[in-house]
Amino acid sequence: MKITMIGTGYVGLVSGACLAEVGNEVLCYDVDARKIAVLNDGGLPIHEPGLAELVQRNRAAGRLRFSTDAAESVAHGGVQFIAVGTPPNEDGSADLQHVVAAARTIGRHMSDYRLVVDKSTVPVGTADAVRDAIARELAARGVATPFTVVSNPEFLKEGAAVEDFMRPDRVVIGADDPEATRIMRAIYAPFQRSHERLIVMDVRSAELTKYAANAMLATRISFMNELANLAERLGADIEHVRRGIGSDPRIGFHFLYAGAGYGGSCFPKDVKAIIRTAAKTGVDLPMLAAVERVNEAQKRVLVRKIRERFGEKLDGRRFAVWGLAFKPNTDDMREAPSRVVIAELLERGATVVAYDPVAMDEARRVFAGQRGVSYAGSPLEATDRADALAIVTEWKEFRSPDFDALRERLRQPVIFDGRNLYEPDDMRRLGFEYFPIGRGTGQGKGAA
Ligand SMILES: NC(=O)c1ccc[n+]([C@@H]2O[C@H](COP(=O)([O-])OP(=O)(O)OC[C@H]3O[C@@H](n4cnc5c(N)ncnc54)[C@H](O)[C@@H]3O)[C@@H](O)[C@H]2O)c1
Repeated sequence: MKITMIGTGYVGLVSGACLAEVGNEVLCYDVDARKIAVLNDGGLPIHEPGLAELVQRNRAAGRLRFSTDAAESVAHGGVQFIAVGTPPNEDGSADLQHVVAAARTIGRHMSDYRLVVDKSTVPVGTADAVRDAIARELAARGVATPFTVVSNPEFLKEGAAVEDFMRPDRVVIGADDPEATRIMRAIYAPFQRSHERLIVMDVRSAELTKYAANAMLATRISFMNELANLAERLGADIEHVRRGIGSDPRIGFHFLYAGAGYGGSCFPKDVKAIIRTAAKTGVDLPMLAAVERVNEAQKRVLVRKIRERFGEKLDGRRFAVWGLAFKPNTDDMREAPSRVVIAELLERGATVVAYDPVAMDEARRVFAGQRGVSYAGSPLEATDRADALAIVTEWKEFRSPDFDALRERLRQPVIFDGRNLYEPDDMRRLGFEYFPIGRGTGQGKGAA
């Protein structure tokens, strides 16, 4: 099948490469000429495990191409996926300008039938807006070419995006037209050969399903963070509590970790957007408002602990920060807790030496012109003569460091662990002052 992907970011590039991998001819279009140039030069604008090989292989086979030419892109695919960004507006609602611009591009250039697939995360009713935008462009051209708009929200996780796309738990299709559903079923059949995991529904329900999924996951995280703060005060250990409740199959272990708050390009903006969508229709979502509030506070928990240990003024203090990406296996720093931690430390007069396995280029961009942040070539180097270490992202390489070397390099052996990577008892034995999340004074006692 000939497929066009409009928007070549985390979602568009991964989806396009995976669709090419199963034999489709895919053209990825983007308005960002720099991104397309990098891809056409054989590079990759983002870090995502397994993606480089996939892109390289399918480019070489001629099944995956990249372009900034709108007319060529619309002419190419009978199916046009829209995978552009939907960042938050000032008021938290989803900014649909890129989605509408993509729809206009299609309407401006299409000359025969197109199936238009909304893959971006968009508020309920956006498929109607896409349909209107295309129809208006067609009317302006005085042509009456038929087209269909369906919703196909994406559930891939950054850091495991290729794997998620190649082996989806489910594929949600919102469509009111049987022929469009048939085409979508054919597109996804190669990714679900053992049994079909397509869930077909009406367009509005599909649009809402994506927000419901992210809101639920964010809720689990904020719930655990709230309980972690309580556990700390009560002298209980949130890690024991996590195991105690996660073993209930009705609860399950996924997304039950207490930490330094959730970030990334999806949860924060999607929780905000669903709250705004509800407010516009006169519906209050107090639970999700609390989820967001808890998370904002949680991003500040590490620095609160640092202040409690070192005092309000941190002038002249130097902190090592391990982990800048909002989660492991990605270079994405959108809404990353590290940004809040580092900003607060700098504000209080401290300096920061940061290390991240892949996000340091992105960090240099994010903190450009910001005095007081520097970058180290290795995790240990970052801790050289630092007053303490703060761990913000749970990269695998942080799980079992050389603690002796770490103790020697730090000015004082103090670790603030925003991801609960180590056992408090072990850390005490190793001679560290260790500040994890939600592991109260009774921490470790009676542990198996
Ligand atoms: N990143 C994720 O993990 C993830 C997962 C599921 C869903 N989503 C959703 O998918 C959408 C895309 O997210 P992303 O992370 O890939 O964003 P991104 O910012 O990485 O990529 C979006 C791309 O769209 C391009 N673009 C913008 N306007 C355009 C236009 N008019 N024509 C062509 N290209 C245009 C941008 O230049 C950019 O390259 C969002 O709605 C997001 O919420 C993201």
